[in-house]
Amino acid sequence: MNDTFLRACRGEKTAYTPIWMMRQAGRYLPEYQKVRGNVTFLELCKTPELCVEVTLQPVDILDMDAAILFSDILILMEAMGAILEFHDGCGPVFPEPIRNQADLDKLSIPDANDATGFVMDTIRLLRKELKVPLIGFAGAPFTCATYLIEGGSSKVFWETKKMMFQEPRLFHNLMEKITKSTIGYMQAQARAGAQALQLFDSWAGVLAPCDFKVFALPYVKKIFTCLQQFNIPLIYFANNGSTLLNYSVESGADVIGLDWRINIKDAIKRVGKKAVQGNIDPFALLLPKDKLRARIARLLTDASNAQGHIFNLGHGIHQFTPPDQAKIAVDAVHELSSR
Ligand code: CP3
Repeated sequence: MNDTFLRACRGEKTAYTPIWMMRQAGRYLPEYQKVRGNVTFLELCKTPELCVEVTLQPVDILDMDAAILFSDILILMEAMGAILEFHDGCGPVFPEPIRNQADLDKLSIPDANDATGFVMDTIRLLRKELKVPLIGFAGAPFTCATYLIEGGSSKVFWETKKMMFQEPRLFHNLMEKITKSTIGYMQAQARAGAQALQLFDSWAGVLAPCDFKVFALPYVKKIFTCLQQFNIPLIYFANNGSTLLNYSVESGADVIGLDWRINIKDAIKRVGKKAVQGNIDPFALLLPKDKLRARIARLLTDASNAQGHIFNLGHGIHQFTPPDQAKIAVDAVHELSSR
């Protein structure tokens, strides 16, 4: 068992810096495309044997130090009763967005094993196969709420902010319901065998710090408080979150995810005695080999004072990234950080 990732999360000494990449299982891998050619995305997410196969792909092909469960943050929203559709090329769609209390009343707080048993089955199967730690995950409540309120992806978050500012009670009720569902969901993942848990807050960065503090942070804290009992590393990733870093540190997470918009050295000063995860620009994988390696070397040096560093991208790997480039990065991290 290679536990380098877990040791780095706990701030322990490691033989080298572990690496995995957000969204490492996905369309940039021809092996994923092959599996996905026969099923829809949602069918894939609900078929444990196929989820196991695509979860293992980046670990086996690219030599990652951790696996992340193959699923999607929106699977839980569907389990709560929201109608979810994925149309190729245009991302997720919720045809009946949540705009008032009656819409919200239609959502339930599901029993995770009943409603998302396929996720727990995937975790149990993966634990039999894996020689690296398995990360479970969920979307953070604010990010999930934006999809439910907007009805899909958004650029300006008009409906979300309108609800926040004009009907804060309704907004908080929605956040409360997502939070309760997420706690049950992540606790079930831990019981099924997830060895670390990450909350993805992809849209946190669209909030002013004062609003993040009131409308998003309390729910993240509540989730992490309810996961403490499992004694496994808890990771919080707020995308575009440099301005929210002090709050991320307060969230109760053991590991703070960093996007690429902040120098890791500056971030480490602010994070203090917690591990950090990140933070190379996903598009830096397009650099020629020597420049990519030099950039990785610099990042490793800048991160040398961290109380634990897990190398990762500053956000998900882009779907058109050549897998060979990802492999160059993994090999460079292993080689250059070896101590
Ligand atoms: O990281 C992994 O390898 C595990 C799998 C994973 C997926 N989605 C698979 C996926 C994880 C951890 C996610 C998280 C997720 N999903 C986030 C948070 C991380 C982030 O990128 O900000 C968000 C916002 C979503 C919602 C979502 N799912 C969107 C917006 C889209 C469409 C746009 C896109 O990037 O493709 C998805 C679809 C999705 N989720 C795919 C995969 C592999 C592509 C689906 C396909 O095969 O067509």
